[in-house]
Amino acid sequence: RYPGGRQRLDRSIQGGELFQTVINNPNPCDDIRHKRIWSKNKWCGTLPKVLVIGPQKTGSTALYTFLAMHPSLVPNLPSPTTYEELQAYSWYQHIRSHGDPIAKNYTFHTVITTNDSAPKPLRDLRNRCLNPGKYSHFLERWLAEYSPHQLHILDGALLRAEPATAMHALQKFLKLPALDYNKLLKYDPKKGFFCQAVSNERTKCLGKSKGRIYPPMEERSAKFLKRYYTPHNTALSKLLVRLGRPVPQWLKDELSSNG
Ligand code: A3P
Repeated sequence: RYPGGRQRLDRSIQGGELFQTVINNPNPCDDIRHKRIWSKNKWCGTLPKVLVIGPQKTGSTALYTFLAMHPSLVPNLPSPTTYEELQAYSWYQHIRSHGDPIAKNYTFHTVITTNDSAPKPLRDLRNRCLNPGKYSHFLERWLAEYSPHQLHILDGALLRAEPATAMHALQKFLKLPALDYNKLLKYDPKKGFFCQAVSNERTKCLGKSKGRIYPPMEERSAKFLKRYYTPHNTALSKLLVRLGRPVPQWLKDELSSNG
C-alpha cells in the first residue's frame, strides 16, 4: 500500500529485460530508464506493488491502458524513449515499418528459418523474434524468485477478445474495488479492438502502432512456428496444470492440432 491507499502499477520493465535487470542489476534505481518513467511520487525506497510483464504481442499496452483507468492505481509515466518489449511476427512488422534493413531485405520466413551460419544481424533478428515466445522458460525463472500465488497469468487472447472478463479476474487477484469494464470499454469495429468508451458515440483506441494492419503470416511460417514451439507449448501447458491455472484455448488448440 502506498500513501493514499493507492497501489502502484509499473510497466517499466518487460519480459526478458526484467530478468536481466533482476540478475545483473538488482537495484532498479541504478537504471536511469526506470527513473524516467516513474510517476511523480515514486522514490527509490519503494518498489512497485505490481509489475506487468508482457512478452511479445500479448497486449501489454492494452492492459496497461485499462489498468491505468482504475482509480486505485497509479501508472508509470508514458515515455517516448521507453524500451519496448520484443514481438514476433509483430516485432518484425514493427521494425520493417521503421525501415530496418534486415527486415526490409529478408522475408519473415527467411528470418525465422535462418540457420546458425547466417550473418549475425539475421541471427539476432531471428532470436529476437523467436525467443520471447518460450513462455514456460520465462515463467519458470519468475517462479524461482516468486511464489505462484504472487503471479497472475493473463491470457493475451482473452484480453483481446473479452477484455472485461480478463480485467475482472485481474482486479480480483489485485484485491481492487471492482470496476465494470463492460461499461468502460467498447468494441470499435474500425479499429478491430476494444477501446475506451469516451461517450455513447466515441471511443479512444490505442495508437496506430498497436493493432497494426499487415498481411497475415504465410502458411509455411505458421507451420514452422507451430512445430518450433511444440516443446515450449507442451512445457507451458504442463506448467499451467502444475500451478492449477487454466490452460488457454489457444494453447489447447495448438497442442491438439499437432498430433
Ligand atoms: P499488433 O499491433 O501486432 O496487432 P504490446 O502492447 O504488448 O506490444 O502488444 C501489442 C498487441 O496488442 C497488438 O499487436 C494487438 O494485437 C494487441 N492488442 C490486444 N488488445 C488490444 C487493444 N484493445 N487495442 C490494440 N491492440 C491490442
